[in-house]
Amino acid sequence: MISRQTIDAIFSAARVEEVIGDFVSLKRSGSNLKGLSPFTDEKTPSFMVSPAKQIWKDFSSGKGGNAVTFLMEHEQFSYPEALRWLAKRYGIEIQEDGEQTDEQKEEMKLRESLYIITEFAKKYFEEQLHETEEGKNIGLAYFKERGFNQSTIEKFELGYSPAKRTAFTEAAEKKGYGKSLLEASGLSIYREGETTGYDRFRERVIFPIHSFSGRPLGFGGRILRNDVKAAKYLNSPESEIYHKSKILYGIFQSKQAILKQNECLLVEGYMDVISLHQAGIENVVASSGTALTVDQIRLIKRLTPNVTILYDGDAAGINASFRGIDLILEQELNVKVLLFPNGEDPDSFAQKHSSEEIEEYIKENSTDFIRFKANVLLEDAKDDPVKKAELVRDIINSISLIPNIVQRELYVQEASKLLEVREEVLFKELAQSLQRRRKEFVDRKKAETETRPMEVVKTEKIEINPREVVEADLIRLIMQYGDLVVDLSDAEGNAYQTTVIEEIINQFDVNDLDFQNELYKNILEDVKLGFEAEELRTGDFFVKMFDAQKTEIASEAMFEKYSLSPNWKDKLNIFIKPKENNISKEIFDVILRFKTFYLDDEIKKCSEFLKDEELSGDARQDQIEKVMTLTRTRSQIFSKLNRVL
Ligand code: CTP
Ligand code: MN
Repeated sequence: MISRQTIDAIFSAARVEEVIGDFVSLKRSGSNLKGLSPFTDEKTPSFMVSPAKQIWKDFSSGKGGNAVTFLMEHEQFSYPEALRWLAKRYGIEIQEDGEQTDEQKEEMKLRESLYIITEFAKKYFEEQLHETEEGKNIGLAYFKERGFNQSTIEKFELGYSPAKRTAFTEAAEKKGYGKSLLEASGLSIYREGETTGYDRFRERVIFPIHSFSGRPLGFGGRILRNDVKAAKYLNSPESEIYHKSKILYGIFQSKQAILKQNECLLVEGYMDVISLHQAGIENVVASSGTALTVDQIRLIKRLTPNVTILYDGDAAGINASFRGIDLILEQELNVKVLLFPNGEDPDSFAQKHSSEEIEEYIKENSTDFIRFKANVLLEDAKDDPVKKAELVRDIINSISLIPNIVQRELYVQEASKLLEVREEVLFKELAQSLQRRRKEFVDRKKAETETRPMEVVKTEKIEINPREVVEADLIRLIMQYGDLVVDLSDAEGNAYQTTVIEEIINQFDVNDLDFQNELYKNILEDVKLGFEAEELRTGDFFVKMFDAQKTEIASEAMFEKYSLSPNWKDKLNIFIKPKENNISKEIFDVILRFKTFYLDDEIKKCSEFLKDEELSGDARQDQIEKVMTLTRTRSQIFSKLNRVL
């Protein structure tokens, strides 16, 4: 746990315009800064940053918030990850609090040290590549031969490990890193009982493997000569920070593009990722030659539900993709498959074609998984009925992995056409498959949820109904003008002065009103708490809160450009937005309008009552009168609101 003091220090040091400026190019526009939305592919800038209010708002995606929420959205950081990033950016030392056991503290220390030595090694390998004769002649020459240019090499922080057996280990020791850390990082190897170690990576080009947030966690090293017997690739061993099954190569460099294009290309190797990037295709990650794991799929799922698997067209590749597909399906992702022409892999293909050609090829040739699998298997089964029966079962088994029923049925229909088997037969097969799987599946899901880490809660999309619109408007008034003094008059026409917040609290109390939206309810509670302590909590307060949802609502309201979406207005015919300087009228209107929902509820209740056949004459008369009064009040309100119903 990062201590409260540290969090406060981070918040007071961080400048939203500086943080965002690291990612988006901003230009001054009045008192705000303006830039192209980093979340969409827009052509005219609608991304606003307010240095005065320390908030940002993206009008093309609707997102908004403070410096921390920007990092959470843009880098897909968790809250603590975002804080750590800022602490580093502003040179703030992080203090942890909470009861940590000695063991936990040791573990933390080890992890921190591993990050540091891995970072050191990454820089060391880069220096070797760019600044030594050996590195330039051998390593850099190799990358150039493989078609990588300077900026690609720098983007992926590629490096070189010298031939000398102890080159890195000695350099690290000279820096003060000890045996136990060097060994734990996997960078140096110590023989049983020996105190001097030697380098794991020797005479190889180095591919640092980054975390989601860009920290180097481990390395892959490629051999330079093909005649040698040693393995083509050598990888860092598992450590406290490097877990092969939880990492996707290229995720750090590609996550932006994956988000924007809402699609992730999945390839096998380091070379494939890098070549595609250089060719301008940046939404790509690699599983690094092994079968995809559930953790890796979840990483992708943080960014997009759409995956296209790119594999070389050999038998091994095809089999690997079948396994990958089944796993991805279970995670409710949409899967397509793309095979390359004989003898080509994504790397060689990317080196030979322009980005338009590659995009075109992907678009034209990626196939929905079921069609892909059916075609491959059909080719194999030919007219062999036994094989064909197996194939049907195999495909139905894949389909049964899809959690979504509708999608599953669509696939069955598709499969029926492809395999020329009647739908009924397939559905029967599917039912059996599902039954077989159900128990297995439930058990596994249970086990998974028990070990799954907490995920960041995303803001739910607000459902559009008239009441929601008015509730949102009340919240906006609190955020934007909560502390403004307004002139109002009561039912008898007596004028009085009050603040927007006081007026809303008072009206809610007197008329027993409340929000239906839980988040708004919660915000009002905060406002009331503040009011009791003689503090008017407006957007300025909420923007600095450590609550992504509230921060977003506050920043949205605080940008002047904000108004009700024209859509809502047209559809619901409610708001004629008053002039900004006429807040008194607006607050009066909104509250009045809010009250009509309560009247509507009352009227509905009475009508229900009247449906009761047993109701006595008098009681009936009472109810009718009540409805009449309510309806009259209602139309009075609407005439006050200047609105024709
Ligand atoms: N791999 C590995 N160890 C090996 C071989 C492969 O870890 N001995 C992993 C690497 O992550 C590699 C990926 O599997 O990137 C795919 O293997 P391959 O296609 O053989 O390598 P490429 O990255 O395509 O490299 P190259 O084009 O240089 O052969
Ligand atoms: Mn290759």
